[in-house]
Amino acid sequence: MTENRPSKPHSGRPNPSGRQSPSGRQNLDPHLERYAARTAGMTASEIRALFAVASRPEVVSLAGGMPNLAALPLDTLSAQVAEIIAEDGLVALQYGSAHGVPVLREQICEIMALEGIKAHPDDVVVTVGSQMGLDMVTRLFCDPGDVVIAEGPSYVGALGSFAAYQAQVVHVAMDENGLVPSLLREALDRTEKAGRRVKFLYTIPNFHNPAGVTLAVERRAEILEICRDHGVLVVEDNPYGLLGFDGQTYPALRSTDPDNVVYLGSFSKTFASGLRVGWVLAPHAVREKLVLAAESATLCPPTFNQMIVSRYLATHDWKGQIKKFRENYRERRDAILSALDQYLPPGCSWTKPDGGFYVWVTVPEGVDTKAMLPRAVTARVAYASGTGFYADGFGSRQMRLSYCYPTPERIREGVRRLAAVLESEMDLARTFGNVSARQIQGPPNPSPDTV
Ligand SMILES: Cc1ncc(COP(=O)(O)O)c(C=O)c1O
Repeated sequence: MTENRPSKPHSGRPNPSGRQSPSGRQNLDPHLERYAARTAGMTASEIRALFAVASRPEVVSLAGGMPNLAALPLDTLSAQVAEIIAEDGLVALQYGSAHGVPVLREQICEIMALEGIKAHPDDVVVTVGSQMGLDMVTRLFCDPGDVVIAEGPSYVGALGSFAAYQAQVVHVAMDENGLVPSLLREALDRTEKAGRRVKFLYTIPNFHNPAGVTLAVERRAEILEICRDHGVLVVEDNPYGLLGFDGQTYPALRSTDPDNVVYLGSFSKTFASGLRVGWVLAPHAVREKLVLAAESATLCPPTFNQMIVSRYLATHDWKGQIKKFRENYRERRDAILSALDQYLPPGCSWTKPDGGFYVWVTVPEGVDTKAMLPRAVTARVAYASGTGFYADGFGSRQMRLSYCYPTPERIREGVRRLAAVLESEMDLARTFGNVSARQIQGPPNPSPDTV
């Protein structure tokens, strides 16, 4: 995953005349001149734009990263929800504190202990998913033009928050063992020499979204040390940490450097994403500011949802439930890896995740995954093209395949279809050179939808 980067395209403000878009077309938004400058960085992610087509039933979607909730005990949950209303309804349906429900914050500390973190419940701030945590942390630390260092590729939602606060992202490449420390050091030196202010390293150490790799344990202390040496905070985003396929966990960065790491956690992948409950564990000094930021964003996270999570943790075998999730995901990971081996043409390579939801595929020179996507969708398979996971236009030879949601049979069929599209792109590339700029008519002979 080491890479040569293209020069950085710059996204400017919307046309201040408010009448014509940069394409020269008439702009129909009468408010265009009123928007704050920061909205220039707010664009729909490629992934979101894809959802509409990818969710058509005939399309095998390897695009979205929706958790597979089929194993949840819905009867138990519905009884628990009814109990909460019956026993504690007037609390559950009332405003709460911006800090979060105290008993849940204690339970969150027990969960983080599984990855070596010793924390006090006072330092946990409950959020509306870890996405809100990301947004708040960026709001607290980033002025326009500040630099955030992030792995290349990185999580789309994080890139969205960084853009919304006009932070510039400098990507650092990974290999199969995650972020490369020497490249991190170089990037920090280079950025500082250029007179830029680096505010934090944003990293997803475990079962990376989208790369599917995990930061080697031996690298963790070195990365913390590099960040300390450069006076740079670490933001550790860990929604997949308990989804190691062999039940393995890794020591959180936060566990060895509590004063310099802000840790983001979530119940979205280990329980239920729709409840929107996550948390931030901040160094003590940052905690108060986070609570204030949370208050101004939402007043408080939903009390009812926090009580559902808390009761579930207190009364259900939640570790057993996570084991079921892991088994589901492992079965799907096995399906996708064997299908990639069987079907993908020579010249393609991919990561081998041992947890989480994603495989990161690199295709041969001459194939552009973004340009290929409409042809793949016509052939009834969808993926997320690599460019969405970079802030700087890189990633056109990469794609993310999510294996978390479809059945193993659908995954295999999806990869088979994808391979046919790829073969045809590679043929064209061999014949005519890079196909990204070319209009190609129709998909490569789709077969009937058999799966
Ligand atoms: C790396 C990463 N961070 C954060 C999030 C957001 O999670 P949440 O549902 O807790 O907001 C996701 C969701 O896919 C993710 O993959």
